[in-house]
Amino acid sequence: MKIVFATNNAHKLAEVRAVLGDKYEIVTLSDVGIIEDIPEDGATLDENASIKARYVYERTGLDCFADDTGLEVEALGGAPGVHSARYATDGHDFAANNRKLLAELADKACRKARFRTVISLIRGGNEQQVEGIVEGRIAMQEAGCGGFGYDPLFIPDGFDVTFAEMSPEEKNAISHRGRAVAELVKIL
Ligand code: IMP
Repeated sequence: MKIVFATNNAHKLAEVRAVLGDKYEIVTLSDVGIIEDIPEDGATLDENASIKARYVYERTGLDCFADDTGLEVEALGGAPGVHSARYATDGHDFAANNRKLLAELADKACRKARFRTVISLIRGGNEQQVEGIVEGRIAMQEAGCGGFGYDPLFIPDGFDVTFAEMSPEEKNAISHRGRAVAELVKIL
């Protein structure tokens, strides 16, 4: 069965295909001819996931899902949260985001953080949402070359390595997105 994943992020696609790939033919935004940036102007992750999924459904009429993820840092009052992609600049600059995060936490004793992913699924015109959370902490410096975004700075609880130091399988097994996709599988 075919389902559109509202992304063109190759990392996200690989993570989601690893979990869902046997059961679904997962196609991306570019596969269905959506090349423009979908506006993400919601105030919450839930709103943004919904905005993206509805955008795809309205244009294609196909079953689809969209995810929105935020890194919520306790000592920063939950920031960058819904603004995670554009924390330091306007342009998804992962390195600048990570530098800013380290600078903001330089004088903070508590480095607790969590990743939260919300997925909006639209199937047969009906929308449902699921969520995945992983708790952890922000490292003192970047470590590892895997993954993307804040992965080199995020150490999940129970580990002493960052997501960027894990294999894709290890990250997927415990990550926010892996857990949200596991919930998605339950309702699909
Ligand atoms: P998005 O809006 O869901 O694409 O995610 C917003 C931002 O959160 C991205 O630009 C990344 O900086 C960050 N992000 C999302 N997922 C992950 C992840 O799995 N690891 C690290 N950073 C992530």
